[in-house]
Amino acid sequence: MDGSGSQGTWVNRPEEPVMATFAFDVYGTLIDTDGVVPQLCEWIGSRAEKFSKTWRSKQLEYSFRRGLMRQYENFALCTRQALEYCCTDYEVSLSSEQKDTLLQSYRSLPAFADVEESLGALQAEGHHLFAFSNGTSEAVEEVLHANGLFEWFEGVVSCDALKTFKPDPDVYHYFMREAGDSKDAWLVSGNPFDVIGAISAGMKSAWLKRTDKTVFDPWGIEPTVTVATLSKLCEKLDINKPKGTYE
Ligand code: LAC
Repeated sequence: MDGSGSQGTWVNRPEEPVMATFAFDVYGTLIDTDGVVPQLCEWIGSRAEKFSKTWRSKQLEYSFRRGLMRQYENFALCTRQALEYCCTDYEVSLSSEQKDTLLQSYRSLPAFADVEESLGALQAEGHHLFAFSNGTSEAVEEVLHANGLFEWFEGVVSCDALKTFKPDPDVYHYFMREAGDSKDAWLVSGNPFDVIGAISAGMKSAWLKRTDKTVFDPWGIEPTVTVATLSKLCEKLDINKPKGTYE
Protein backbone atom coordinates (compact mmCIF):
# COMPACT_ATOMS: atom_id res chain seq x y z
CA MET A 1 0.00 0.00 0.00
CA ASP A 2 1.64 3.29 -1.07
CA GLY A 3 -0.94 5.59 0.44
CA SER A 4 -1.72 7.35 -2.82
CA GLY A 5 -4.43 5.02 -4.08
CA SER A 6 -8.13 5.64 -4.11
CA GLN A 7 -8.80 3.06 -1.43
CA GLY A 8 -10.13 4.41 1.83
CA THR A 9 -7.79 5.23 4.60
CA TRP A 10 -8.75 4.32 8.07
CA VAL A 11 -8.75 7.00 10.73
CA ASN A 12 -5.56 8.15 12.40
CA ARG A 13 -2.95 8.71 9.73
CA PRO A 14 -4.24 9.57 6.28
CA GLU A 15 -0.65 9.85 5.08
CA GLU A 16 -0.10 6.24 6.04
CA PRO A 17 -3.33 4.38 5.36
CA VAL A 18 -4.18 1.53 7.64
CA MET A 19 -7.03 -0.73 6.63
CA ALA A 20 -9.21 -1.91 9.45
CA THR A 21 -10.01 -5.50 10.21
CA PHE A 22 -13.66 -6.16 10.99
CA ALA A 23 -14.95 -9.13 12.91
CA PHE A 24 -18.64 -9.33 12.10
CA ASP A 25 -20.65 -11.18 14.66
CA VAL A 26 -23.10 -13.41 12.79
CA TYR A 27 -26.33 -14.23 14.65
CA GLY A 28 -28.14 -11.06 15.68
CA THR A 29 -25.82 -8.85 13.63
CA LEU A 30 -25.74 -10.09 10.04
CA ILE A 31 -28.35 -12.79 10.41
CA ASP A 32 -31.80 -12.32 11.94
CA THR A 33 -32.54 -15.02 14.51
CA ASP A 34 -36.19 -13.91 14.45
CA GLY A 35 -36.31 -15.37 10.95
CA VAL A 36 -37.92 -18.42 12.59
CA VAL A 37 -41.01 -16.38 13.56
CA PRO A 38 -43.11 -16.95 10.38
CA GLN A 39 -42.73 -20.73 10.73
CA LEU A 40 -43.42 -20.57 14.46
CA CYS A 41 -46.49 -18.42 13.82
CA GLU A 42 -48.02 -21.22 11.79
CA TRP A 43 -47.55 -23.64 14.64
CA ILE A 44 -48.00 -21.63 17.82
CA GLY A 45 -49.78 -18.47 16.66
CA SER A 46 -49.41 -15.21 18.55
CA ARG A 47 -46.78 -16.52 20.96
CA ALA A 48 -44.28 -16.98 18.14
CA GLU A 49 -42.35 -13.77 18.64
CA LYS A 50 -41.97 -14.19 22.37
CA PHE A 51 -41.02 -17.82 21.92
CA SER A 52 -38.31 -16.82 19.43
CA LYS A 53 -36.84 -14.26 21.85
CA THR A 54 -36.79 -16.76 24.72
CA TRP A 55 -35.21 -19.37 22.45
CA ARG A 56 -32.44 -16.96 21.50
CA SER A 57 -31.75 -15.84 25.06
CA LYS A 58 -31.69 -19.43 26.36
CA GLN A 59 -29.32 -20.41 23.54
CA LEU A 60 -26.94 -17.65 24.65
CA GLU A 61 -27.38 -18.50 28.34
CA TYR A 62 -26.46 -22.11 27.58
CA SER A 63 -23.33 -20.97 25.75
CA PHE A 64 -22.30 -18.76 28.70
CA ARG A 65 -22.90 -21.55 31.19
CA ARG A 66 -21.10 -24.17 29.14
CA GLY A 67 -18.14 -21.79 28.83
CA LEU A 68 -18.01 -21.18 32.58
CA MET A 69 -18.48 -24.82 33.47
CA ARG A 70 -15.99 -25.92 30.80
CA GLN A 71 -18.55 -28.33 29.46
CA TYR A 72 -18.27 -27.43 25.82
CA GLU A 73 -20.75 -28.67 23.27
CA ASN A 74 -21.11 -26.84 20.00
CA PHE A 75 -23.46 -23.90 19.45
CA ALA A 76 -25.93 -26.02 17.46
CA LEU A 77 -26.47 -28.19 20.55
CA CYS A 78 -27.04 -25.07 22.68
CA THR A 79 -29.65 -24.08 20.09
CA ARG A 80 -31.31 -27.51 20.14
CA GLN A 81 -31.41 -27.73 23.94
CA ALA A 82 -32.73 -24.16 24.18
CA LEU A 83 -35.54 -25.14 21.80
CA GLU A 84 -36.39 -28.13 24.01
CA TYR A 85 -36.44 -25.81 27.03
CA CYS A 86 -38.81 -23.38 25.31
CA CYS A 87 -41.20 -26.12 24.22
CA THR A 88 -41.53 -27.22 27.84
CA ASP A 89 -41.66 -23.69 29.24
CA TYR A 90 -44.34 -22.56 26.76
CA GLU A 91 -46.18 -25.89 26.96
CA VAL A 92 -45.86 -26.24 23.22
CA SER A 93 -45.95 -29.70 21.77
CA LEU A 94 -43.90 -29.87 18.57
CA SER A 95 -43.13 -33.16 16.82
CA SER A 96 -39.51 -34.10 16.31
CA GLU A 97 -39.98 -33.33 12.59
CA GLN A 98 -41.17 -29.82 13.45
CA LYS A 99 -38.20 -29.30 15.77
CA ASP A 100 -35.84 -30.55 13.06
CA THR A 101 -37.44 -28.13 10.60
CA LEU A 102 -36.84 -25.22 12.97
CA LEU A 103 -33.25 -26.28 13.61
CA GLN A 104 -32.66 -26.78 9.91
CA SER A 105 -34.00 -23.28 9.24
CA TYR A 106 -31.24 -21.94 11.49
CA ARG A 107 -28.88 -22.87 8.66
CA SER A 108 -30.67 -20.58 6.22
CA LEU A 109 -31.94 -17.77 8.44
CA PRO A 110 -32.33 -14.47 6.58
CA ALA A 111 -29.80 -11.65 6.66
CA PHE A 112 -30.84 -8.15 7.76
CA ALA A 113 -31.67 -5.90 4.81
CA ASP A 114 -28.65 -3.58 5.10
CA VAL A 115 -25.99 -6.26 5.25
CA GLU A 116 -24.99 -6.98 1.68
CA GLU A 117 -24.60 -3.37 0.55
CA SER A 118 -22.66 -2.39 3.67
CA LEU A 119 -20.24 -5.29 3.44
CA GLY A 120 -19.69 -4.38 -0.20
CA ALA A 121 -18.96 -0.76 0.70
CA LEU A 122 -16.46 -1.65 3.41
CA GLN A 123 -14.74 -4.20 1.22
CA ALA A 124 -14.52 -1.70 -1.66
CA GLU A 125 -12.62 0.64 0.65
CA GLY A 126 -10.06 -2.10 1.21
CA HIS A 127 -10.94 -3.17 4.73
CA HIS A 128 -10.56 -6.77 5.82
CA LEU A 129 -13.84 -8.49 6.62
CA PHE A 130 -14.23 -11.64 8.67
CA ALA A 131 -17.23 -13.46 10.09
CA PHE A 132 -16.64 -14.24 13.76
CA SER A 133 -19.11 -16.44 15.58
CA ASN A 134 -19.94 -18.92 18.28
CA GLY A 135 -21.33 -21.07 15.46
CA THR A 136 -19.13 -23.74 13.90
CA SER A 137 -17.36 -22.72 10.70
CA GLU A 138 -19.55 -25.14 8.78
CA ALA A 139 -22.82 -23.69 10.11
CA VAL A 140 -21.64 -20.11 9.59
CA GLU A 141 -20.46 -20.80 6.05
CA GLU A 142 -23.79 -22.40 5.26
CA VAL A 143 -25.89 -19.49 6.49
CA LEU A 144 -23.63 -16.97 4.73
CA HIS A 145 -23.86 -18.94 1.47
CA ALA A 146 -27.65 -19.17 1.86
CA ASN A 147 -27.74 -15.36 1.86
CA GLY A 148 -25.12 -14.82 -0.85
CA LEU A 149 -22.79 -13.15 1.68
CA PHE A 150 -19.91 -15.58 1.85
CA GLU A 151 -17.92 -13.89 -0.91
CA TRP A 152 -17.48 -10.68 1.07
CA PHE A 153 -15.38 -12.32 3.75
CA GLU A 154 -11.71 -13.14 3.84
CA GLY A 155 -12.46 -15.85 6.33
CA VAL A 156 -14.71 -17.31 8.99
CA VAL A 157 -13.31 -17.44 12.52
CA SER A 158 -15.24 -19.75 14.82
CA CYS A 159 -14.98 -19.95 18.60
CA ASP A 160 -15.50 -23.70 18.12
CA ALA A 161 -11.75 -23.93 17.43
CA LEU A 162 -11.12 -23.08 21.10
CA LYS A 163 -14.03 -25.13 22.45
CA THR A 164 -15.45 -22.17 24.27
CA PHE A 165 -17.73 -19.24 23.55
CA LYS A 166 -17.89 -15.46 23.54
CA PRO A 167 -17.28 -13.48 25.70
CA ASP A 168 -14.28 -15.52 26.88
CA PRO A 169 -11.36 -13.12 26.23
CA ASP A 170 -9.44 -15.97 24.62
CA VAL A 171 -11.80 -16.02 21.65
CA TYR A 172 -11.23 -12.34 20.86
CA HIS A 173 -7.46 -12.79 21.15
CA TYR A 174 -7.78 -15.83 18.91
CA PHE A 175 -9.68 -13.75 16.37
CA MET A 176 -6.97 -11.09 16.36
CA ARG A 177 -4.24 -13.67 15.76
CA GLU A 178 -6.24 -15.44 13.05
CA ALA A 179 -6.93 -12.13 11.31
CA GLY A 180 -3.25 -11.20 11.22
CA ASP A 181 -2.81 -9.07 14.34
CA SER A 182 -4.30 -5.93 12.82
CA LYS A 183 -3.56 -2.68 14.64
CA ASP A 184 -7.13 -1.62 13.93
CA ALA A 185 -9.34 -4.56 14.85
CA TRP A 186 -13.05 -3.98 15.28
CA LEU A 187 -15.85 -6.20 16.42
CA VAL A 188 -19.19 -5.23 14.88
CA SER A 189 -22.03 -6.73 16.87
CA GLY A 190 -25.68 -6.31 17.71
CA ASN A 191 -25.09 -8.14 20.98
CA PRO A 192 -24.04 -5.88 23.89
CA PHE A 193 -22.33 -8.76 25.74
CA ASP A 194 -20.17 -9.32 22.66
CA VAL A 195 -19.25 -5.62 22.37
CA ILE A 196 -18.23 -5.49 26.04
CA GLY A 197 -16.27 -8.73 25.60
CA ALA A 198 -14.34 -7.40 22.62
CA ILE A 199 -13.51 -4.04 24.19
CA SER A 200 -12.36 -5.74 27.38
CA ALA A 201 -10.07 -7.92 25.27
CA GLY A 202 -8.47 -4.90 23.56
CA MET A 203 -10.48 -4.51 20.36
CA LYS A 204 -12.56 -1.56 19.23
CA SER A 205 -16.21 -2.27 18.82
CA ALA A 206 -19.23 -0.92 17.01
CA TRP A 207 -22.55 -1.68 18.64
CA LEU A 208 -25.32 -2.16 16.15
CA LYS A 209 -28.38 -1.03 18.05
CA ARG A 210 -30.96 -2.49 15.72
CA THR A 211 -34.00 -1.47 17.78
CA ASP A 212 -34.62 1.54 19.99
CA LYS A 213 -35.55 -0.78 22.81
CA THR A 214 -32.26 -2.67 23.02
CA VAL A 215 -30.51 -1.79 26.27
CA PHE A 216 -26.73 -1.71 26.57
CA ASP A 217 -25.46 -3.30 29.79
CA PRO A 218 -24.55 -0.55 32.29
CA TRP A 219 -21.08 -1.88 33.10
CA GLY A 220 -19.26 1.39 32.46
CA ILE A 221 -17.68 -0.08 29.32
CA GLU A 222 -19.00 1.78 26.29
CA PRO A 223 -18.95 0.85 22.60
CA THR A 224 -16.41 2.75 20.50
CA VAL A 225 -19.34 3.76 18.28
CA THR A 226 -23.06 3.02 18.28
CA VAL A 227 -25.06 2.85 15.06
CA ALA A 228 -28.62 1.89 14.16
CA THR A 229 -27.78 0.16 10.89
CA LEU A 230 -24.72 -1.16 9.10
CA SER A 231 -25.13 1.53 6.46
CA LYS A 232 -24.73 4.10 9.22
CA LEU A 233 -21.55 2.34 10.29
CA CYS A 234 -20.10 2.87 6.81
CA GLU A 235 -21.00 6.57 7.00
CA LYS A 236 -19.73 7.04 10.52
CA LEU A 237 -16.42 5.35 9.99
CA ASP A 238 -15.83 7.25 6.82
CA ILE A 239 -12.40 7.56 5.30
CA ASN A 240 -10.00 10.19 6.58
CA LYS A 241 -11.80 10.61 9.82
CA PRO A 242 -9.28 11.44 12.56
CA LYS A 243 -9.12 9.13 15.52
CA GLY A 244 -11.16 10.27 18.49
CA THR A 245 -13.83 12.00 16.45
CA TYR A 246 -16.41 9.25 16.62
CA GLU A 247 -19.61 10.65 18.02
C1 LAC B 1 -22.55 -15.36 17.40
C2 LAC B 1 -23.56 -15.30 18.52
C3 LAC B 1 -23.23 -14.27 19.52
O1 LAC B 1 -22.87 -15.36 16.18
O2 LAC B 1 -24.83 -15.26 18.15
O3 LAC B 1 -21.38 -15.43 17.76
